[in-house]
Amino acid sequence: MDASRSFTVTTPRITFGPGSLGLVGDIARRLGMRRPLLVTDPHLAALPPVATVRRALEEAGLVVTLFDGVEVEPTDRSFEAAIRFAADGGFDGFVSVGGGSAMDTAKVADLYSSWPDSFLAYVNAPIGEGRNVPGPLKPHIACPTTCGTGSECTGIAVFDLLAMKAKTGIMSHRLVPHHAVVDPEVTASLPRTALACTALDTVCHALEAWTCRPVGERDLPPEPDLRPMTQGANPWSDLLALEPMRLVAGNLEAALADPPDMAARGRLLWAATLAGASFGNAGCHVPHALSYPVSGMVRDYRPPDYPPGPPLVPHGMAVILNAPPVYRLMGADAGPRLLAAAEALGADVRGVPEAGAGDLLADRLVALMRAAGVPNGLEAIGFSPVDVAALTEGALPQRRLLDNAPVEIDAGVLDGLYRAAMRYW
Ligand SMILES: [Fe+2]
Repeated sequence: MDASRSFTVTTPRITFGPGSLGLVGDIARRLGMRRPLLVTDPHLAALPPVATVRRALEEAGLVVTLFDGVEVEPTDRSFEAAIRFAADGGFDGFVSVGGGSAMDTAKVADLYSSWPDSFLAYVNAPIGEGRNVPGPLKPHIACPTTCGTGSECTGIAVFDLLAMKAKTGIMSHRLVPHHAVVDPEVTASLPRTALACTALDTVCHALEAWTCRPVGERDLPPEPDLRPMTQGANPWSDLLALEPMRLVAGNLEAALADPPDMAARGRLLWAATLAGASFGNAGCHVPHALSYPVSGMVRDYRPPDYPPGPPLVPHGMAVILNAPPVYRLMGADAGPRLLAAAEALGADVRGVPEAGAGDLLADRLVALMRAAGVPNGLEAIGFSPVDVAALTEGALPQRRLLDNAPVEIDAGVLDGLYRAAMRYW
């Protein structure tokens, strides 16, 4: 029997709704936690979501230790600091509060304190050894505070390996949090740019899961524990892909308005959760691969209304700025899927031939970028055509993502995509 077209669905339990952060104590106790490590970043440590979670854990009788050393855009250095802290403390569970950085740091601290090994052992090959996680981890409750990463639903942890200046990650179904607690009230304090970038990251997650290579078209092992979670598009990931696009397109402007529509912000958070469950079971592709060198090679760009800090291209911004040319390129072969996506994002698809689907979708993405107020292409954040060779060299090692694309991607294609992403309007 040929099982190469089988697929496996992995999700956490999900609790969604206003006030749900107050339930974390009870959830943690029932998961068997007595001495959890609360993982967050130094900025969030002083904000209400962390205080709410800490209070809930303490009221449930748990002894809480705080680790607030998470770095935005984590590195092997910041991961290793969290691993040491977790290994020394003898914790019996993890509760993360924050964006993808905090949740990913908790996943990795959980992994290496449960199954100690050299740091590169579980890191994706060829950069790391790509070894399988030997068994279950300690329970992890993930509480997202942004609307984009979807990390609460995935078994993926992404970081910069400083020595190689490369973005890579660790992937295993064992890393999927045991329980995602998603409380729309956390979006009240999200600054406008962060909200816009994470919502556009959600769109990209859903679009890439919807348009990646279908399951069974790559030479992957059929055994669920050996097959990467980024197994390709499948009926489950398809089911969860179009709705997040509809939700973001229909709610982004109201969520960004002043004063914001809080119900609209809640719908963006739900969209992020759905998209996380979609790409967490399918994988992303080219826009994410193109984004990593853009974030890594930032010179002096600082996004408006972010906390003071070093130059930074937010992840969602780096991804969406690279997305439109990818869909123009795919247009000819993926017509029906691209038309469905364009329609979900609010485009009028009546009378549009399949051959025009890629352009229609790309134009719709650019319209969303303008509505969200993100910069006009890579030039607007400090890049120029002179940088294209270095950007291409940086994206080429992202084989896990590039191989998940429905079209062949080589250096020449990457070069053309970066040039097309310089300026949009
Ligand atoms: Fe992303």
